[in-house]
Parts: sequence; structure tokens; C-alpha cells
Amino acid sequence: FIPPTKSGAGGGVIAKDALGNSIVASEYLSSRNPGDRSLAQGLKGDPTYIVVTEDKQIADYGINAICTHLGCVVPWNIAENKFKCPCHGSQYDSTGKVVRGPAPLSLALVHATVEDDKVSFTPWTETDFRTGEEPWWA
Ligand code: FES
Repeated sequence: FIPPTKSGAGGGVIAKDALGNSIVASEYLSSRNPGDRSLAQGLKGDPTYIVVTEDKQIADYGINAICTHLGCVVPWNIAENKFKCPCHGSQYDSTGKVVRGPAPLSLALVHATVEDDKVSFTPWTETDFRTGEEPWWA
């Protein structure tokens, strides 16, 4: 049983920080560098990366941090510009596309939008822009 969660339009959620507070885009960006990828709580409580673009905006996609191999949370490695899973060595590029197994699939995507200065995530059901394929997670 999954209890209904309070959500915005289209099954979305406001991104939350580690303390459970809503993430305010302007504050968030003031303390982040271009290219930053940091974790927030996303849809269904999944750890989800907010991507900061090179021009220091919130990217229009977020990356679910759960490894598609066996479910470890995959850290961002800024020095190597990759996500590297500590459990069995899978690697994903900066958009979460798998580049080394054993992970069979890329990290799941969500849409990220900023409304009233709050970051929100909504389900990604369209084509995966990294692979041109239908999303395996939808
Ligand atoms: Fe990530 Fe196995 S859980 S490589």
C-alpha cells in the first residue's frame, strides 16, 4: 500500500533538502557552482540529483540516484565528471547515461521545473533524450 502523497500538478513533488525543507531555487543557486549535481528528495522520496547548468540555472531534468544494478545510491564524482557506483563499479556520464556495467540501464530521469522559486520534480514519461528510447522506468 502506497499512501497518497500531497502533490502538485501532474503527480509532481517539491524537491526537498536533507532536512525536509522545500528547495528554494534562488537560494540554492547562490551557493552552487555551474555543473553542480547535488542530491534532493524527489518523487516517492527517491534521492534525485538537481543539475545546475553551465549558465547556473536549474536544468530541466533531474537524475534519480538509484543504481540500476542493485539499488545503491550513486555518488557524483566531480573530478571525473561521472557518477560512480561504490557497490560494484558501474559508471554513468554527467547526464546519468550508463557508460560501464554491471548496471544494465541508465539512471532514471525526472522533469525539474522552477515555479514560484521552488524546485519541483514531475515524472518523465517521454523518450529518454540520452538514448532515444522509451523510458524503462515509466
Ligand atoms: Fe551499483 Fe551494483 S548497485 S554497481
